[in-house]
Amino acid sequence: HGPGGRTNLPFRPISPVAATEDTFVVPQGYTWEPIIRWGDPILPGGVPFDASDQSAEKQALAFGYNNDYTDVIVTNRAGTKALLCCNHEYVNPAIMFPPDLDAAEQLRIAMAAHGFAIVELERSRPGERWRYVPSAPKNRRITASTPFRLTGPAAGSDLLRTAADPTGTVVLGTIGNCSGGTTPWGTILSGEENFNGYFRADGSTPENKRYGLSEGESTYGWEAIEPRFDARTADYANEPNRFGYIVEIDPTDPTSTPRKHTSLGRLKHEGANVVVAKNGHVVAYTGDDERFDYLYKFVSKGRYDKRDRRRNLDLLTEGDLYVARFHGDSPASQIDGTGTLPRDGRFDGYGQWIPLVRNGRSKVAGMSVEEVLVFTRLAADRAGATKMDRCEDVQPSPTTGKVYVACTNNSQRGTSGRAGVDEANPRTENKDGHIVEIVEDDGDHTSRVFRWNLVIVAGDPAAEGTYFAGYPKEKVSPISCPDNLAFDSEGNLWISTDGQPSSIQKCDGLFKVPLEGRERGHVQQFLSVPRDAETCGPVVHDRDGSIFVAVQHPGEDGTWDAQRSRFPDYVEGRARVGEFAGPRPAVVQVLRG
Ligand code: FEO
Ligand code: CA
Ligand code: CA
Ligand code: CA
Repeated sequence: HGPGGRTNLPFRPISPVAATEDTFVVPQGYTWEPIIRWGDPILPGGVPFDASDQSAEKQALAFGYNNDYTDVIVTNRAGTKALLCCNHEYVNPAIMFPPDLDAAEQLRIAMAAHGFAIVELERSRPGERWRYVPSAPKNRRITASTPFRLTGPAAGSDLLRTAADPTGTVVLGTIGNCSGGTTPWGTILSGEENFNGYFRADGSTPENKRYGLSEGESTYGWEAIEPRFDARTADYANEPNRFGYIVEIDPTDPTSTPRKHTSLGRLKHEGANVVVAKNGHVVAYTGDDERFDYLYKFVSKGRYDKRDRRRNLDLLTEGDLYVARFHGDSPASQIDGTGTLPRDGRFDGYGQWIPLVRNGRSKVAGMSVEEVLVFTRLAADRAGATKMDRCEDVQPSPTTGKVYVACTNNSQRGTSGRAGVDEANPRTENKDGHIVEIVEDDGDHTSRVFRWNLVIVAGDPAAEGTYFAGYPKEKVSPISCPDNLAFDSEGNLWISTDGQPSSIQKCDGLFKVPLEGRERGHVQQFLSVPRDAETCGPVVHDRDGSIFVAVQHPGEDGTWDAQRSRFPDYVEGRARVGEFAGPRPAVVQVLRG
């Protein structure tokens, strides 16, 4: 056996990299290179990136900023063509724009740098590196201005109407798109996460307050160029209600109108992953990434039919919405906040999926179906859901059907005035996060009850209160702030992190952990991303000897004149025409050999 065991991607784990380093590190025997970076032209008319000569028009024809959810879908039998699908969550204006660039134009560029990109890839043969194809027929950019259609029971409701859209069915743009998922019918789901930062709004209503909307100038300032981002006016009071959804994009049809599905509720969706249950209904798991918020699942009314893609495209428009309640099986007195295991040796128990909408009816007293789907957080509050330590990716294993929930961290757990520990969130001021393993009753994803346990309680393994499924800690890589999850074909979980620089003073990275057998819990670090960056994607094509990661917000704590990262091109000196001495978020391919 190699150091990684008998596996398609054997590797010797890399050493953790200090948070001050601006390097991209892969294991011995692997190479890396960017496939596409912020500003690379993808549509006809696009021009090579020049940081000192930016415009909104150029940005709209180019790859956007801060790539997060990523998939690489191979589209031909020879394995030489693929679609790169990637969302663009937010922007870092202080390091993107020359200070003398017109302020309003900066805002327009920012809007064009958000959203989504679909880019055709090609290579000469399997195992070779991928190149992107500029101006290919399926290439597409979706931005903060692209029309989306609302679907589901809340579409068209009074809560979603504005002066510009009296029908309540057409929204311009998608924003804050964090993680996502690829459906069995080949569409991409993407979660609208921190949408509140884009609006000024009346912060005094309970609904707006619960979503973090407030009166002050928005984080990104777009209200200066588009009135709809100022929701204090009667005309646009409902505009923020039109964000916070799971969006679905069909990457195979560049003319298709992307959709926002109200059936999956409105929250700070991290992403969503769909699995086909034994009975044919599809189930989407989705987390609300906010401290003390909830874990949800959606069960479709219709059934999946692999021969009827047209019908599958509507599966997420109608169904039941549930929120999770976790019960621990150990006495509360044994959950002391340090991460010390209770006497039965596990943080574990059973759970219930509490219905919010079922058979088209609201299950929440005093709220209509439309209200439940637009103010989902308030509905889940009333339903008594369990307050979690920030649910990020929720990923069902394709080999076992068990479901994994990355709880990234929660520095406020157990602090004054906030919820205390419970067995599913067992650490006070949880800075390192944990991963929940859920086993649906009878292996049925539509089940109303489940068993759960914490498979990883993250952190430096040398620290007290960490746990790696009982695996010897001296053999485990330090890991903190799990965020995005993916599986390889062998059923190993790959975990990317977001936040290690502040929790364990290491750059973020990508880690592999087996979940079954003797190696269960053996976390090993595969790669490390540059200074200030978070590791997104990831996509594991282990049979093909390759891994893809989206490197998001490298060097984000810098300024134009004091850049902290030069990833991925590591250009020396100040910006020359066509080159840029600052960082460019990029999708990277890592190849074996
Ligand atoms: Fe955009 Fe939940 O991380
Ligand atoms: Ca227990
Ligand atoms: Ca994330
Ligand atoms: Ca995160």
